[in-house]
Amino acid sequence: MTPYRVPLAARLVDSLANQAPHLPDAAVDGDLLDPDVNRAYQALRATAIGAEDLWAHCKSMLDGVYLDGFVIIEAAPLLDLGPEHGPRAATALLTWLATPLNVLDATPLWKPLGTDPEQVTSTGYQPFQIDIVNATRPPDYLAQWCLRPDPRGGGHTLISHLRRAVLRLDDEERRLLTDRAFTHGDFAGLRGVGDEYRPFPVLDGREHRDGFVRFDARILPGMDSREAHTSAARALEREVIAGQRRFLLARGDLIVINQHVCAHGRERLGPDQATVHDDEHRMLHQMFLRARRGSTHTSLGLARR
Ligand SMILES: [Fe+2]
Repeated sequence: MTPYRVPLAARLVDSLANQAPHLPDAAVDGDLLDPDVNRAYQALRATAIGAEDLWAHCKSMLDGVYLDGFVIIEAAPLLDLGPEHGPRAATALLTWLATPLNVLDATPLWKPLGTDPEQVTSTGYQPFQIDIVNATRPPDYLAQWCLRPDPRGGGHTLISHLRRAVLRLDDEERRLLTDRAFTHGDFAGLRGVGDEYRPFPVLDGREHRDGFVRFDARILPGMDSREAHTSAARALEREVIAGQRRFLLARGDLIVINQHVCAHGRERLGPDQATVHDDEHRMLHQMFLRARRGSTHTSLGLARR
């Protein structure tokens, strides 16, 4: 078994399939999953056969000593439970790791990440980033569930270990990246992610349990190329690319990424997207997650506000 890929045991799928119809809807209370729903979903971990093994594997991949910072759960059998029970079972599974976080009012917890061939940006290369980089508390984890891969074979997921990339920089580059010299886009309407951080440092000097490497390569084209901070950020981008891992998400693959450790990106989709039928485009659903208070090594305790 490839360590970062983890299958769902048949008996665990059976447990989730049996329980999903009896679970409450994934209602949100403010920015986080409703506490009663969260409790009901988490309780499954104690009773579902194989849940503890899956949880332990995912936690060690995401937060443990090997620190890959991501894991891919092969969750196609949950997709097969249908549009109501499938997402509910997947959400329940994710609550074992952290608390679902909804950063925008009036949007679904699972946000569709479709592709629109009319918009070049949605089919092109997506450079390395952590999501909501310009917040004091970006989401701790990001989950993406592949409902449909690109029928033209493109759109490979890219993951790179930010902490290792930073270690390959020289001291002066690292020093420049601790300056509050970087800005990114809009913050309006976001909740559950702290305050707007503007300007922000790329390196906040904190370790991976609570700090971030606030890197989003989309800020680079707007920066002054003669400026030392730009050069340092470009050096980090080179190291992030040098360390990248690349793979195609298959139907049902559910990738969970620790944003304290890894940046994500995506290769361009395959050719001739305009001729792909509307309901055959690549489709991912995305959800943010907030780590629980105290330790990233426990799934118990109160959600951090
Ligand atoms: Fe993203």
